Amino acid sequence: MTSQQSPRPAIVVVGASRGIGRAIAELAARDGAPVVLVARSIESLHVVQAAIEQAGGEAFSLPVDLASPDATRILDEFLSREGLVCDVLVNSAGYGLRGAATALPIADQIGMIDVNVRALAALTLHLLPGMVARGRGGIINLASVASFTPGPYMAMYYASKAFVRSFSEALYQETRRTGVTVTCVAPGPVSTEFLEKSGANRAALFKALPKATPEYVAKCAWRGFKARRRLVIPGISARLAILMAGLLPSAALLPLVGRLQLRGNDPCPCGSGKQLKHCCRAGHAKGGTAPA
Ligand SMILES: NC(=O)c1ccc[n+]([C@@H]2O[C@H](COP(=O)([O-])OP(=O)(O)OC[C@H]3O[C@@H](n4cnc5c(N)ncnc54)[C@H](OP(=O)(O)O)[C@@H]3O)[C@@H](O)[C@H]2O)c1
Repeated sequence: MTSQQSPRPAIVVVGASRGIGRAIAELAARDGAPVVLVARSIESLHVVQAAIEQAGGEAFSLPVDLASPDATRILDEFLSREGLVCDVLVNSAGYGLRGAATALPIADQIGMIDVNVRALAALTLHLLPGMVARGRGGIINLASVASFTPGPYMAMYYASKAFVRSFSEALYQETRRTGVTVTCVAPGPVSTEFLEKSGANRAALFKALPKATPEYVAKCAWRGFKARRRLVIPGISARLAILMAGLLPSAALLPLVGRLQLRGNDPCPCGSGKQLKHCCRAGHAKGGTAPA
């Protein structure tokens, strides 16, 4: 880029190597702006980049581990090297883990704060002032229906998503008269690798709810963002789940979510290393939290 040229507005999709992020990147690229694809796996990013280019769009791949404190600087340097400025940021990177907080590895649980919370907040706070100064663009943050209730046996994941929704909705309000939009997306289960990797697909709660496709969630998210919506909840079953969570008192909701999320052959929360059904099941049943 020469010194006279102003940087071109780009859409930065974090978590673009697969799943919902990939689907949003492919959809957004159709609007004509260059798309910067961010995730760890460069091979997968190149596959997404090729698909976008084949469809007539423009894309760049940037391998970054969001758990690294350098992620924001690496993105900044990449954008200025390519003569781009972040007009729209999509924060879709994230992971979850199902299991008792006492049994899951602590580093993996704290890692959810690094990726789902710290990296999302750092990118948002870093890029939002430029958007406000330019009076355009905005941010799409992926929360979840999990942001509407505490989630026993997926405690850190649900808490991280509660942060994402609270943070995003507050920023929506702060920026709504600036020409910038902050949209929070709260899907129910979506058929991506997330469900298998997190173990959520083995929980009764996720088995019971119908699964949306990543393409459907992407369409709702992108359309909702362009319509300047504060909160997008894709699909009727996600809306019903949120409605139910709002109606039930915590004393009923927490045991219900716990019961639907932990199975008898999962490690017992007491930390014995035994399966729940061979350990404390009877004890937990007294408290009303025994899994089915
Ligand atoms: N699937 C669901 O049921 C569901 C429901 C509600 C909300 N969500 C939320 O929607 C978002 C997208 O989920 P998904 O279903 O699309 O999951 P996914 O298919 O597992 O994709 C997750 C994306 O995040 C990236 N990522 C993970 N850790 C990273 C790290 N340390 N650094 C950089 N990139 C990282 C992954 O790329 P690399 O592995 O290549 O780094 C991948 O691109 C997540 O925030 C998730 O919590 C998902």
